[in-house]
Amino acid sequence: MVTKEAVVEALKEVSYPGFSRDIVSFGIVQGVDVSESAINIKLVLKSDDTSIDAELEQSTKKHLQEKFSDMSVVVGVEHQQAPQFSAQPQEQKPTYLPTVKYKVAVASGKGGVGKSTVAVNLAVALAKHGLKVGLLDADIYGPSIPLMLGVTEKPYYDGSKIYPIEKYGVQLMSLGFLVDNSEAVIWRGALVHRAIQQLMNDVAWPELDVMLFDMPPGTGDAQLTLSQSVSLDGAVIVSTPQDVALLDAVKGVRMFRKVNVPIMGIVENMSYFLCPHCGERTEIFSNGGVKRECKNLDTDLLGEIPIDADIRIGGDNGVPVVQANPDGAQSKAFMDIAANIKEKLQK
Ligand SMILES: Nc1ncnc2c1ncn2[C@@H]1O[C@H](COP(=O)(O)OP(=O)(O)OP(=O)(O)O)[C@@H](O)[C@H]1O
Ligand SMILES: [Mg+2]
Repeated sequence: MVTKEAVVEALKEVSYPGFSRDIVSFGIVQGVDVSESAINIKLVLKSDDTSIDAELEQSTKKHLQEKFSDMSVVVGVEHQQAPQFSAQPQEQKPTYLPTVKYKVAVASGKGGVGKSTVAVNLAVALAKHGLKVGLLDADIYGPSIPLMLGVTEKPYYDGSKIYPIEKYGVQLMSLGFLVDNSEAVIWRGALVHRAIQQLMNDVAWPELDVMLFDMPPGTGDAQLTLSQSVSLDGAVIVSTPQDVALLDAVKGVRMFRKVNVPIMGIVENMSYFLCPHCGERTEIFSNGGVKRECKNLDTDLLGEIPIDADIRIGGDNGVPVVQANPDGAQSKAFMDIAANIKEKLQK
């Protein structure tokens, strides 16, 4: 007896025409019906372009027929207008930031877990690992990256392009440069989209290996719009060990997966306490929750960052700890995670 699971597994081996990604991860498989002698598959494309229908139908049918030779196979391809915030295969979206090789979001479900701190230190760490790095502060609720990098000047504007500011080997651009800090901005989807568009199109970004996006906290419309307009290659999720943060991190993972952004892994921030005198490591929470959740979500624990006064002070003073004390244990934690990310990107 052929099971539905077996059919879905087989569908994961069928690639979307023109792409290396499979049709299941693209989210177009919307019906799998298996009876005793027949398999019925419904594929739904979120566009009205019918140019790949025949190829898609044939390759899917052929593969299933080969796998399950005793069954009759019917594959139907349908079309559906994409709703505003729905998943779209990212390869089909317009290519923004043509000078940037990899676009990676640093995100979290919950606010205040240290996303910006991690983004800044990872950016500097990746630069120290020899990559050309950009950092885009896309936190619409409170852009904080310029402060954390000690940047007080506004970027140069030559009448047509805005030039990113370089600090500690990182090319920086922030929504904070475009809006007044004291303005309490509540951004709606369309506005977010426009502002991000501007940061991507009107900025003279140089050739970069990787650009990190410091994302606003949460998993609402703003985050979704951002993920989609940027056409991200991957996401790094930051969580603290507490269950509440972890629950939100799981939501974050789900949101990115919904829009076909691969999760690179989770960083556990404020993971343990490092005694500044003797260097001893104390597990304050010690429940291993993030590691367990990584397993459940089938993703990697990218690394653990201690809770540490120097990390906070680095942020407040505008000199990230990776820059201020490159030989310290805190810096090593960031450097190791950056090495992990670099390796994943170059695989
Ligand atoms: N590992 C750490 N050790 C000590 N303090 C930390 C650590 N990580 C972050 N902090 C501090 O926690 C506070 C919140 O960090 P941060 O602003 O990076 O969080 P965030 O997730 O970006 O917040 P938001 O959701 O508001 O954007 C800051 O004061 C920061 O210095
Ligand atoms: Mg932040």
